[in-house]
Amino acid sequence: MLREGGLVAVPTETVYGLAARADRDEAVAAIYRAKGRPSFNPLIVHVADLASARRLAVFDERAVLLARRFWPGALTMVLPVQEGAPIAAAVTAGLPTVALRCPAHPVMRSVIAEARLPLAAPSANRSGGVSPTTPAHVVESLGDRIDAVLDGGACEAGLESTIIALREGGRWQVLRPGPIPESAISAVLGSRSDAVTSHAIEAPGQLASHYAPGKPVRLDARTAEADEFHIGFADVAGHVTLSASGDLSEAASRLYALLHEGAASPQPRIAVAPVPEDGIGKAINDRLRRAAA
Ligand code: TXA
Ligand code: MG
Repeated sequence: MLREGGLVAVPTETVYGLAARADRDEAVAAIYRAKGRPSFNPLIVHVADLASARRLAVFDERAVLLARRFWPGALTMVLPVQEGAPIAAAVTAGLPTVALRCPAHPVMRSVIAEARLPLAAPSANRSGGVSPTTPAHVVESLGDRIDAVLDGGACEAGLESTIIALREGGRWQVLRPGPIPESAISAVLGSRSDAVTSHAIEAPGQLASHYAPGKPVRLDARTAEADEFHIGFADVAGHVTLSASGDLSEAASRLYALLHEGAASPQPRIAVAPVPEDGIGKAINDRLRRAAA
């Protein structure tokens, strides 16, 4: 299906992606159409390994170091497009850079290897909605608009990849916090004095309102009103909990599933317990702020 230009939802270790061959205009256009995604918001291209990545983007020494350390895995790098790279123009939305990731999920790895193609794949949800971490979430959101969902079970990390942009002059920026913390990246690149870190809206997909469950969301809620579906964490029990033991990795992997559950609940509003800003807690709070915006 992918070789023929179809749309297939695929499991990755972060969230389910909606994949299409990245080298064909019509296939990529179909992704934007199915998601209702604005055409100015570029897509991540998924590759088998560093060698295939280098055919698509220009890797400097830092990019090679990061790829060796974090690939396959939940790191996406924004790099200059390689001249003549076989990528449809819509993938990069006209930018001179391309976002690349080499995923770790064994099913996704087999798909890329078997297709022998770079695959463009945004999260497999309607634009602006909550990302899917199970095949059921994909079917709910896009079931009637895509060719297939490949069932690889629930996603382990549960939050989208960390996106980093490597700039000229040794500068770099985390564009989207994710499972790989910024501290792990600084450990590889060194904490250069000219390293710039900001979560400003550079990745166009990082618009304030995103990951929206379709109901008002209230944050830092230690207690809930009668009309709120309460998502707990640690000592805040809630109707359901991100992690009763206060484990942030468990909370990350359950976040979207519980937001989907809150969306489907009879209560008209959702309240979420406070989550500490440590490690992946930063990425969790980033998504919660956008869900509440
Ligand atoms: O974990 C993930 O990254 C998942 C799985 C499926 O791989 N994919 C994902 O894709 O989260 P998506 O489309 O939902 O988010 C991609 C983000 C968007 O915020 C987009 O704006 C940004 O990547 N992006 C893509 N290309 C870019 C570029 N050239 N420069 C800056 N940001 C870019
Ligand atoms: Mg997304």
